[in-house]
Amino acid sequence: MPTIENPTEKTLAELGLSDPELVIRQFALVREQFDKELSAKPLDEPSFTMMKNAWLGRKSGVLTSITENWLKRAAPVLKPVVGQSLNELKRHVESRLESFQAAIEKASAETAASREKVDLSLPGVIRPIGSHHLIRQVFQEIEDIFFSIGFSVVEGPEIETPYYNFEALNIPEFHPVRDDMDTFYLELPKGAPGPLLLRTHTSPVQIHTMEKRQPPVRVIVPGKVYRRDNPDATHSFMFHQIEGLAVDSDITFCDFTGTIDYFVKQFFGEGVKTRFRPSYFPFTEPSVEFDASCIFCGGSGTAETGGACSKCKGAGWIELFGAGMVDPAVYGFVNYDPKKVSGFAFGIGIDRLAMLKYGIDDIQVFFQNDVRFLKQFP
Ligand code: FA5
Repeated sequence: MPTIENPTEKTLAELGLSDPELVIRQFALVREQFDKELSAKPLDEPSFTMMKNAWLGRKSGVLTSITENWLKRAAPVLKPVVGQSLNELKRHVESRLESFQAAIEKASAETAASREKVDLSLPGVIRPIGSHHLIRQVFQEIEDIFFSIGFSVVEGPEIETPYYNFEALNIPEFHPVRDDMDTFYLELPKGAPGPLLLRTHTSPVQIHTMEKRQPPVRVIVPGKVYRRDNPDATHSFMFHQIEGLAVDSDITFCDFTGTIDYFVKQFFGEGVKTRFRPSYFPFTEPSVEFDASCIFCGGSGTAETGGACSKCKGAGWIELFGAGMVDPAVYGFVNYDPKKVSGFAFGIGIDRLAMLKYGIDDIQVFFQNDVRFLKQFP
């Protein structure tokens, strides 16, 4: 079987090299061989290790063979030239291997960098930005209108005692009005002071506010309220109200109607007319219901198509909210002197107001989180 001859396994004499010129040429051939092998290798760690072991390996590397076979066994006359050529070859091999290793490191750093590179020219990820819910928007609209005439916002707890929700508002325990406001009571641990309930209206915050402040008081109270009402197109068991309360030394019924008229015109537009009808709330006297002329039929009661307007059912008026002059009995619960102060209060159902203004015919859409609905009110 033919074998590939390796000249470094023979002595120089066996190779027939007795002339220094020929020895130098032989070293040049070995160097060429190394360069050829190295340039054929891919730039990676296994190639580096393989070349290093093959050429610089202590036991069987090419340079060890040359030392053993050419240098140590050279004729004394050739030894200087063999020694010098061997050193040069060794320096060459070491330096080329060093550069090879540096090139591997550089290439792998570049690959990593290109993997991590951020391409700023790529289009960004568009994230949908949310918007305020229509109820929140209506709260804001109403708050702005009342801010402009000197009211400020206060808030109160959604969990109340019956005292604040009823008694301090002049609704004693067996008053029939409580039936309309049947509500959710909290299950409390045995021995806990109670009972506690989810407030049925924002009116308890009237009491909290008057307990804390002396007149003049001009506040509005936005918030959630809860009632055990069956859900339908105009009822929800959780809905929103804005309470209003103004108490001072000389507030009259005219201030009251003027304020409400201003609010309704700002909210629905100048063309809207207002009226009030007698009503009953235990905490206001006199009490009224405020109506606005129907914004859908312009107050005529007749739809564009000719029949009765479906929104106001032909009346030309839409009921908006309850209100009244604060009942003097309420002042007794907060240590105000009913002879020195007077005021008015109102409680607006926000959900129904929003339905009226934006032509929404089912209150439930506010709570269903259907994006197709929400997107209509960006
Ligand atoms: C009250 O809640 C009184 N606290 C309002 C008030 C305040 C009167 C201050 C006088 C002085 P009423 O129960 O009518 O009133 O409720 C007020 C508004 O809440 C109603 O006009 C209506 O718009 C809304 N509302 C009542 N029940 C529901 C319900 N289940 N779902 C949605 N809205 C409701």
